[in-house]
Amino acid sequence: MPLSLKRQLLIWLLVPLLVIMPIAAVVQYRLTFIPAKLELDHQLGDFAIAIASFLKVDSGKIRFEMSPETEHLLRTDQTDTEFFLVLAPNGKVLAGDAKLNTSEEDIAVGELRYIDKRIDGRKMRMLIYGVTCGPNPCQVRIAETLLKRDKLHYQALIATLVLILLLGLSTAGVMLFAVRHALRPLQALRGQLADRSLDDLRPLDAPNITSEVQPLVTTLNQLFGRLNAASEAQKAFIADAAHQLRTPLTALQTESELALMEPHPESMHATLERLHYSASRSAKLANQLLTIARTDPSLQIAADFAPVNLKDIGAWAANEWSHHAVVAGIDLGFELASAILSGQAALLQELLSNLIHNAMEHAGKGAKVTVRTYGLADNSILEVEDDGPGIDEEERQKVLQRFFRGRHAKGNGSGLGLAIVNEIARIHSAKISLSSPEHDDGLLVRISFKRQENGNSFKPHS
Ligand SMILES: Nc1ncnc2c1ncn2[C@@H]1O[C@H](COP(=O)(O)OP(=O)(O)OP(=O)(O)O)[C@@H](O)[C@H]1O
Ligand SMILES: [Mg+2]
Repeated sequence: MPLSLKRQLLIWLLVPLLVIMPIAAVVQYRLTFIPAKLELDHQLGDFAIAIASFLKVDSGKIRFEMSPETEHLLRTDQTDTEFFLVLAPNGKVLAGDAKLNTSEEDIAVGELRYIDKRIDGRKMRMLIYGVTCGPNPCQVRIAETLLKRDKLHYQALIATLVLILLLGLSTAGVMLFAVRHALRPLQALRGQLADRSLDDLRPLDAPNITSEVQPLVTTLNQLFGRLNAASEAQKAFIADAAHQLRTPLTALQTESELALMEPHPESMHATLERLHYSASRSAKLANQLLTIARTDPSLQIAADFAPVNLKDIGAWAANEWSHHAVVAGIDLGFELASAILSGQAALLQELLSNLIHNAMEHAGKGAKVTVRTYGLADNSILEVEDDGPGIDEEERQKVLQRFFRGRHAKGNGSGLGLAIVNEIARIHSAKISLSSPEHDDGLLVRISFKRQENGNSFKPHS
């Protein structure tokens, strides 16, 4: 199965996002944490410089004098514990906490060296500051616990995660929306093509299509145009041929019928019957082909639609078919209730004629055929029911196709009757269902039209 364009776009957009996001998170974290950490180091430096100001060198003698009050004033930190140590150049402790004297460090005057140390089992940030003290420098060492730094680290981490998560999710959401939005015209195009019947060769309507897809739509429309022209020419040829053939074939049918009724040699009888059979079959075929040509969707038949009452169509059929039914030994009945729809009466008559003809022909002598019309809340219904052999489930879809005849088909048909019914139903946006009658064998053909409220229906053609 080919990869979908949507999936490909999303992969190309989201995979780099998944790579970029962690990198952005690290950069963001460092940008938040490092300046704050430098600021804390800077405060430690200020503390060291303040302590150093109490170092005095008096005629070669080094003294450190800081009162406990001053020391108290200098210790302003509320969070961390701070320690200090003042060392003479020879390493002698002048003041402060001797536990900061962890290692010997060479330091230049004015240098501030920051190191992370473990003192007394606790992790600390230590600063060693070189102070001028005669020929060699003294050292002021300051150390503080890491509570502020840990808190800062934690806050920077949370802030980064929240920011990156929000950014990542919203970017992914926007990408998803953008891809869907960009592909929507393509989906609309697919919908248009999927819903099309084989006869619908109108150009595609794609107003919002992107410039990349436009050439494809143009090419498809050109193809539709060429197919349409070819199909029109073919239909026009069939219509012309059917029209030209109909008159001589009908004449041939009548003549052969007359010849059969006239006295004729016995030896000619079988030939005359075959001639009559072929002439009737050909005349019927020409008529059916003409009907199909007349139901062409390009003829814009819907423009001529008017309110029609199915009850009137049924009454017309009763008049038209009752005599044939009696001759064929069929019990043809009508249950007609008012059911209005918007349509073309002549086509609806043709539709009903085909259904009655089928029921009489395929159900055969002695069958009971009922034509029903009635209205439902939203639909106007036409039904033709017979108690013949019916149509097998697997054949029910196929019988609507042109030139398909069932396994048990009778008569001299060509398999066009139900295709014509299907075309006429489609023109009227009606639904056809073929089923078995509820309590019997046989066939129930139901055509469900959209109901129209307007009661001023046109009388069908007689
Ligand atoms: N009332 C019915 N009972 C049983 N089978 C039917 C009935 N109506 C149609 N069929 C089956 O469906 C097939 C197709 O019907 P359709 O009307 O299209 O063609 P046809 O009747 O064979 O020929 P044509 O209508 O061209 O004279 C028939 O050949 C037949 O097998
Ligand atoms: Mg038929």
